[in-house]
Amino acid sequence: MEGARSLVLLKLIVAWRVASGFDVSPASEFEVSLVETVFASDGKTSDEFGRAVAVFEERIVIGAYNEEESTGAAYVFNSTDFSQIAKLTPVGESDDDCFGCALAIYGETIVVGAAYSIQGEEEEVVTGAAFVFDATYAQIAKLTAKDGGEDDEFGWCVAIHNDTIVVGAPGHESKTGAAYVFVRRNGQYVRVAKLTANDGRETDLFGYSCAVYEDKIVVGAYEAGAAYVFNETYAQVEKLLASDAPEDGSYFGRSVAIYADTIVVGAYGELTTTGAAYVFNGSYVQIAKLRATDGVEDDYFGRNVAIYDDVIVVGTESADDDLGEAGAAYVFGCNGTSSSYVQLAKLSEDGNNLDDDFGLYVAIYEDQIVTRA
Ligand SMILES: *[C@@H]1O[C@H](CO)[C@@H](O)[C@H](O)[C@H]1NC(C)=O
Ligand SMILES: *[C@@H]1O[C@H](CO)[C@@H](O)[C@H](O)[C@H]1NC(C)=O
Ligand SMILES: *[C@@H]1O[C@H](CO)[C@@H](O)[C@H](O)[C@H]1NC(C)=O
Ligand SMILES: *[C@@H]1O[C@H](CO)[C@@H](O)[C@H](O)[C@H]1NC(C)=O
Ligand SMILES: *[C@@H]1O[C@H](CO)[C@@H](O)[C@H](O)[C@H]1NC(C)=O
Repeated sequence: MEGARSLVLLKLIVAWRVASGFDVSPASEFEVSLVETVFASDGKTSDEFGRAVAVFEERIVIGAYNEEESTGAAYVFNSTDFSQIAKLTPVGESDDDCFGCALAIYGETIVVGAAYSIQGEEEEVVTGAAFVFDATYAQIAKLTAKDGGEDDEFGWCVAIHNDTIVVGAPGHESKTGAAYVFVRRNGQYVRVAKLTANDGRETDLFGYSCAVYEDKIVVGAYEAGAAYVFNETYAQVEKLLASDAPEDGSYFGRSVAIYADTIVVGAYGELTTTGAAYVFNGSYVQIAKLRATDGVEDDYFGRNVAIYDDVIVVGTESADDDLGEAGAAYVFGCNGTSSSYVQLAKLSEDGNNLDDDFGLYVAIYEDQIVTRA
């Protein structure tokens, strides 16, 4: 267990699966078991292996941004036999670009953000970039914002669904923030939209978090305590707010996730950093507020969120448990069609690695949950 931080793959074992999703009554019949802990073949402790995680079908992607002092890398693992399939690095990048600080996968396409990537020929500016890799793990595109400025942090978040890629740039225009949409046409990624909030202000950090599902795009702006939804013509259709959390200090929008019609928004500052996550349905009505059953201050519950079907995974920064400051991730399921979510499991480590970031980063695909260990 020496060396780089590890990732664990957990299998969600459900008692029944019904057409509409998971039937979680009784919740006690749900089981999540640890199936594997994976490490980078060449990892070092300083690598921050597990800075970001993503999973789709048989591929798990893991970011390691300090890799090799420190261009960063993304590792691809096979979730069936747990072998390391590939190590992705960007072509022509320099150190400290944060490659691997954000990543996303859909089908065989992997997107990796590098928010501190330097652009410009004559004058070098730290604007950020995102890199796209194909089924052969070759880099097929480097995405940048044509209007990018210094410290835009383009690539701070990335999301992909089918042919659409969304890249957040929370630092854009004095941290007002923006998100850019690229669509694959004839094998090329073409920029089709620049998203901004219709009421955006400086320091809102719009684009700190992002998610996409089919034609729907969600962008978080946590300093504004909001998440914005855009439709297939890239028009803003909704500004999501928490029913009860103040716009200031709740950090609602720090993390976002979407699956079909369901949107999840993390608010780790809620109730003096105990944290909460809010669930919205297809009419943008808040249908649930998720909390850890054992949540306390400074858990930062909601730092990251993931959703697949009716199952939501919420990551924390430092959940207190019997051991002290060990991290955890929580699994929630929708109880039938009632839109009421119940906590199904708490994922934590039984070791005594107290300053662990276990559960800080989370991903889910079908019955596979991946979390930083
Ligand atoms: C799920 O809903 C059913 C019917 O409303 C209820 O009887 C059951 O207790 C619920 N399960 C949980 C775990 O809340
Ligand atoms: C993963 O491993 C399984 C079993 O070895 C193999 O059949 C499958 O093709 C692999 N998938 C990928 C994406 O490498
Ligand atoms: C992906 O996009 C293509 C082209 O827009 C479309 O034909 C196809 O149905 C989409 N697939 C899925 C799974 O959404
Ligand atoms: C997208 O939203 C805009 C603004 O509400 C609306 O005018 C437009 O019709 C919507 N487009 C689609 C395809 O729903
Ligand atoms: C969202 O929830 C509200 C309140 O329960 C309900 O009236 C509405 O029909 C729901 N919308 C969808 C698309 O499920």
